[in-house]
Amino acid sequence: MQRGCFIVVEGGEGAGKSTMAAEIVAYLRERGVSDDAIVRTREPGGTPIAEDIRKILKDIRKDDCLCPEAELLLMYAARVQLVKTVIMPALEAGKYVVGDRHDLSTLAYQGGGRGISRELIRSIRDAVLGDFYPDLTILMDIPPEKGLLRAGKRGELDRFEQEDRDFFERVRKVFLDEYEQHPDRIALVRADQDFAAVRADIRTILESKCIAG
Ligand SMILES: Nc1ncnc2c1ncn2[C@@H]1O[C@H](COP(=O)(O)OP(=O)(O)OP(=O)(O)O)[C@@H](O)[C@H]1O
Ligand SMILES: [Mg+2]
Repeated sequence: MQRGCFIVVEGGEGAGKSTMAAEIVAYLRERGVSDDAIVRTREPGGTPIAEDIRKILKDIRKDDCLCPEAELLLMYAARVQLVKTVIMPALEAGKYVVGDRHDLSTLAYQGGGRGISRELIRSIRDAVLGDFYPDLTILMDIPPEKGLLRAGKRGELDRFEQEDRDFFERVRKVFLDEYEQHPDRIALVRADQDFAAVRADIRTILESKCIAG
């Protein structure tokens, strides 16, 4: 059986990742892909254990402060659990996996945002995931203040959303640097456009990569 396809939507807070992940699923369905051949994931999370880890990562606690290295390791604990128990089996069964965040977010948030070295992140990534990479990463770029405004409309902020503006500027810079270094596997979308324009750009990317074509 042909290996499936792992498509990841990445970007900052409130960029529209979850909205566009749903649009990618709609695109696949239109192209005749059946529901049981499409798996949606989100990170951190996507399995019962990884969702428990997500809670630790997102919660703001008064009694303890999660240090950056612990945050990094928890991200990879959740990711490897998801990759090995959900994503890899789905891909081996020839399915499409549409992921809401993956590896690039760790380079951006724990690297750019928290200041952990790229080398440490890469060595942990390589140790637990080896040569596993998404087939396509769609980076949704938006100025942080616009994205936070969108995300903030939904009420209470989580541990990441309450970071300061500089943090999100550093995150955005790493996302864009990675795109510049890997335009072959990362596609860039201007996420501050209206819904129809963003959706159209994503469809153009999927068509150009012959996804479900
Ligand atoms: N192109 C768009 N223009 C305006 N609003 C949008 C657009 N895309 C999504 N939204 C709205 O912005 C909000 C954030 O979108 P969404 O939840 O998809 O972002 P996200 O990147 O998944 O956010 P988070 O980082 O919090 O998971 C939602 O209310 C959504 O309806
Ligand atoms: Mg989301």
